[in-house]
Amino acid sequence: MTLMDKQNTAREIDLKRINHVIARYKDEKWPLIPLLQEIQQEFGYIPPEAIGPIARVFGLFPSHVQGVITFYEQLYTTPRGKKVVRVCRGTACHVRGGKTILKLAKQYLGIEEGQTTPDMEYTLETVACIGVCALAPNLVIGKDTHGHMNPKKVAQLLGNAKSEG
Ligand code: FES
Repeated sequence: MTLMDKQNTAREIDLKRINHVIARYKDEKWPLIPLLQEIQQEFGYIPPEAIGPIARVFGLFPSHVQGVITFYEQLYTTPRGKKVVRVCRGTACHVRGGKTILKLAKQYLGIEEGQTTPDMEYTLETVACIGVCALAPNLVIGKDTHGHMNPKKVAQLLGNAKSEG
């Protein structure tokens, strides 16, 4: 069973909560994006169970709704950790050791890129240039950017992060 399978079987989605949010948007002219954003706010991500009801209410194919979710990078269909760790994969960060920073982040968190720790504390991602190349290589945890990263700093930030789950 993969990590994602475990996370998906561990959760139970309350369809009433989904329908409650949908009801507020059904008469709007361009409801899809704000509706998806609110569903995400409610659950922390967009549960796959929400796609069918959303498509039905607006007379769309589920694949259309899924396509919109895939198109917007800020919309997620899997649960995410409380803290999102992002390693910059932009050129400046890459040439100054970003690859090592990512490797260490994976080791400390015990997950691969795109995954979430079993205790739902951390999600690991890479991002395109975040615009502070002078501080490369960069690592972002939540809203905090940590510049001039090196192995020692990664250990300080993430050394105790690995969950036992
Ligand atoms: S390349 Fe990493 S901040 Fe620009």
